[in-house]
Amino acid sequence: MSLNYTPKTIKHFLKPKNIGLLKNPDAQAEIGNMVCGDQLSFTLKVKGGKIQDIKFLSFGCASNIATASIMTEKVKGMSLAAAKKFNWQAIVDELGGLPRQKIHCSMMAVEGLRKVIAMYEKEHPLTKKVFVGLKIKKNKR
Ligand code: FES
Repeated sequence: MSLNYTPKTIKHFLKPKNIGLLKNPDAQAEIGNMVCGDQLSFTLKVKGGKIQDIKFLSFGCASNIATASIMTEKVKGMSLAAAKKFNWQAIVDELGGLPRQKIHCSMMAVEGLRKVIAMYEKEHPLTKKVFVGLKIKKNKR
C-alpha cells in the first residue's frame, strides 16, 4: 500500500528545512506519540518576542519530517503569540493535503511547537512594566 503524498510533502520529506539542533537555544522540548512511536525534538531562539530561529530533529515517519519542516519554515519570524495559534490545519493546507491516517503527524508538530514555546515562557517570564507611561510631575517651589 502506498500513501498518497502531495509533491510538496515529498519535497519536504526528502529535503527538510530547519533540521538539526540550534547552538545555545533559548528553549528545547521533545514530544512523542505513544501509538506510532514517532518523536520530534525542537530547539528555539527568540528575539524581541519573535521566533528568531527554530530547528527540529525527527525520529519518525515521512509526514513527521515534512510537517515539522513546513511548520518551522512558516513560524520563523512570527511573534510567539501568533505562533501559539498556528494550527495543524495550516500545515495540512500548506502541504496541499495529507493522507487521513497521517493527520496526527501535523498535530504532533504543532504540539511540539507549543511545548517549546511554553518551555521558553516558563524560563523567561514576562516582567510587567507597571509604571510605563506614568509621568511624574515636579513640584514647582
Ligand atoms: S505516523 Fe506518527 S507522527 Fe507520523
